[in-house]
Order: sequence, then C-alpha cells, then structure tokens
Amino acid sequence: MVTVVCPGSFDPPTVGHVDVITRAAELFDDVVVAVGVNVSKSRLFSAEERIELLTEVFADNPRVRVEGFSGLVTSYCTQIGATAIVKGIRGSGDVDYENQMAAMNARLSGVDTVYLPSRPEHSFVSSSLVKEVAGFGGDVTPFLPPTVRDRLLARLADRT
Ligand code: PNS
Repeated sequence: MVTVVCPGSFDPPTVGHVDVITRAAELFDDVVVAVGVNVSKSRLFSAEERIELLTEVFADNPRVRVEGFSGLVTSYCTQIGATAIVKGIRGSGDVDYENQMAAMNARLSGVDTVYLPSRPEHSFVSSSLVKEVAGFGGDVTPFLPPTVRDRLLARLADRT
C-alpha cells in the first residue's frame, strides 16, 4: 500500500488541483490531500472550510482522504508513513519553485517528490487568479468545481 501526500493551500481548490489529485489516485493506493493550516498567507477560506470543500469534492473517491496539517510537510509525511509528495506542475515557473521545495524536503527527511504535469487546459489556472477574476465579477465557472464556485461567490458577496 503506497501512501502519498498532495500538500497545498487550496484557497480555494481549483479544477487543476482536482485533476492532479484524481490522477494521483489512479497511480497510488492512498492519496492524502494535506491542507496547510498554518501557512503564512492571508486566506479567503479557513482551514476547516478548505478541508470541507475538498472532502465534498472527493466524497466518491475511496482512494482520496483530506486532512489538515501544520508544521513541516516532511514531518507530516513521516508521521503518516507517506512514501512521496505529489505536486502538479503547470509550467517552468512551477518547476523552479517546486524543485527548490523538493530538494529541501528530500534533504530534511528523504521524502521524494513526484510531479504530474497539469493538463494544458489548466496551465493558467491558479487559486489566486481565480479569486482575483471572481472578485472583479468575471466568470470563474470553468475553473472551479461547482460547489466551490458557489461557496466562492457567496464568500465574495458577504465581503461587499
Ligand atoms: O498551495 P501552495 O500555497 O503552493 O502550498 C504550499 C505548501 C503548503 C505545500 C508549502 O508551503 C508547505 O509545504 N508548507 C509547509 C511548511 C514546510 O514544510 N515548509 C518547507 C517547504 S520546503
């Protein structure tokens, strides 16, 4: 049984995240979506809300479970016995950033990182851009699972 970790902020989860996690679950037995609860960025959704959104999205996938984690992702991997970290790569910008984290994580604990290329149609999709577009009234329907889109629009409406 191979357990892998897909760590991230998921604020909010996008169709790009969902695709990478779904594909990871076709390759590995047990995929833990690890939501960073103490990452030092300001968040639109609380950790509990991000966990709830992802749990809803993957409710029908028995190989995927969603957990919160705090502290180092490598410590979390050791704690749950994960073999590797899985990350999606959208382009060269992601490669530079992810290679640096992958090398640090390998050095810290020996845990390796596996990259899955994002599908071309998701190459420009990021949580931060989706929030910006939605905040200015743009249509983000293609970029989010339907429940996430509804929650994002409700959250933005609450804030105005
Ligand atoms: O979706 P993001 O914001 O790119 O996710 C970043 C995340 C949560 C994967 C990264 O910040 C992380 O692993 N944070 C936990 C703290 C840690 O282990 N930092 C050292 C990474 S080399």
